[in-house]
Amino acid sequence: MRFAAVILAAGKGSRMNSDLPKVMHRLAGVPLVDHALNSAVRAGADSIHVVVGHGGDSVAEHLAAKDPDIAIHWQRTQNGTGHAVQQVADALAGYDGDVIVLYGDTPFVRPETLHAMQKARENAQVVVLGFNAKDPAGYGRLVMQGDSLEAIVEHKDCTEAQRAIRFCNSGVVCAPAALLFSLLDEVGTDNASAEVYLTDIVAIARGRGLPCTAIACKRSETLGINTRQELAHAEKVFQKRARKAAQANGVAMVAPKTVHFALDTVLGRDITIEPNVFFGPDVTVENGAGIRAFSHLEGCHISQNAQIGPYARLRPGAEIGASARVGNFVEIKAAGIGNGAKVNHLSYVGDASVGAKTNIGAGVIFCNYDGVNKHRSTLGESVFVGSNSALVSPVEIGDEALIGTGSVVTQNVPAGDLVLARAKQVNKAGRGKRLMDLLRTRKNK
Ligand code: UD1
Ligand code: MG
Repeated sequence: MRFAAVILAAGKGSRMNSDLPKVMHRLAGVPLVDHALNSAVRAGADSIHVVVGHGGDSVAEHLAAKDPDIAIHWQRTQNGTGHAVQQVADALAGYDGDVIVLYGDTPFVRPETLHAMQKARENAQVVVLGFNAKDPAGYGRLVMQGDSLEAIVEHKDCTEAQRAIRFCNSGVVCAPAALLFSLLDEVGTDNASAEVYLTDIVAIARGRGLPCTAIACKRSETLGINTRQELAHAEKVFQKRARKAAQANGVAMVAPKTVHFALDTVLGRDITIEPNVFFGPDVTVENGAGIRAFSHLEGCHISQNAQIGPYARLRPGAEIGASARVGNFVEIKAAGIGNGAKVNHLSYVGDASVGAKTNIGAGVIFCNYDGVNKHRSTLGESVFVGSNSALVSPVEIGDEALIGTGSVVTQNVPAGDLVLARAKQVNKAGRGKRLMDLLRTRKNK
């Protein structure tokens, strides 16, 4: 069954006490809103609509950069969840699939659960996702009669008897698009908050004689985030799951609790991750690679059997070739390191391409920035760059060139050349000792 996802993200999130809109706070390395988005994409949504309001410019900017196909809808005043969904009505006019409503602050709803809701749509027009709560205070209650969902009543609007119901509304709803918007047209604001409640569509659908139902998921799946404590808790929950999933997929971790993943981390098999490794967004690691202790990775790709760290920093655009080695205190940014190449100690490689089997000695710096512009350098295959050299970009160094230690390379180097770009050594016989003696005598006078 086809569906369009509508993600509500207009709320202020006052309890975050922040200038940043709630859904832009990061969970697992990415803005909160990306999690619901990811579930919708993985479940196979035809189109994705995000309703923004508070701080909407930054949310819209983020989403546009991520995927220009995501439709942004503004809800200028927050008149309730039903009103938020109504902002998408025009965009989905004539769409003959379902709509699933998700929430930017509810990150853990799984694609499988969205499929289960669609399955339940075979016997009902409106399907709501519910969960059982020990303490249901604050949530809308699902009023069931057998399998039939009769109404959703907000906590504030509940009768005493309804308050005893523990089956709660997660907020996630699935219904045919045309029906959803026609039901919303009938929703009023006669409730404790004087808002257009999305939840009211159920009673209206029942009034039309349409079957409605609710399916249950685990409480943990519908975890919503309202405070920084809840965000930190969600991070913990996410990391625990991500570590388990990595282990199940063949990743070895010596101290799993010290390894942090991002939502989009992709790991192959037989990867070893030592303690205290941090994965920022957009990292892919291929089979057999090793990430040693205290490495920080983001926006990079590590090929088969490469060895990274300890204490390596891979920044966006780092492309590490198969069996390459990036050692301690090495930083790599927007640079390709060829297959079998080595950058083992204390180097900065930025805006460069380093050919296969090239060896970058200790302390080599790629001087990519002149204070105004960035420049790229290209090194061929099997080049040897001696320790403590500075490559002043842009330079091109041909295959099998040899750069003498301590060189400052400012000009291109043809393949096979030897470069000595440093002051020539001068030895003065006996002068070292004589100078020291003179200094000591002066000091003791
Ligand atoms: C809502 C449900 C409630 C459910 C609970 C689950 C309604 C009326 N109530 O209540 O049954 O148990 O979620 O957490 O739907 N939003 C907008 N625009 C608005 C209002 C809200 O985008 O005008 C967004 C918020 O950013 C938030 C979400 O919708 O992400 C839910 O809104 P919130 O005000 O938290 O609803 P609840 O009162 O918690
Ligand atoms: Mg809420």
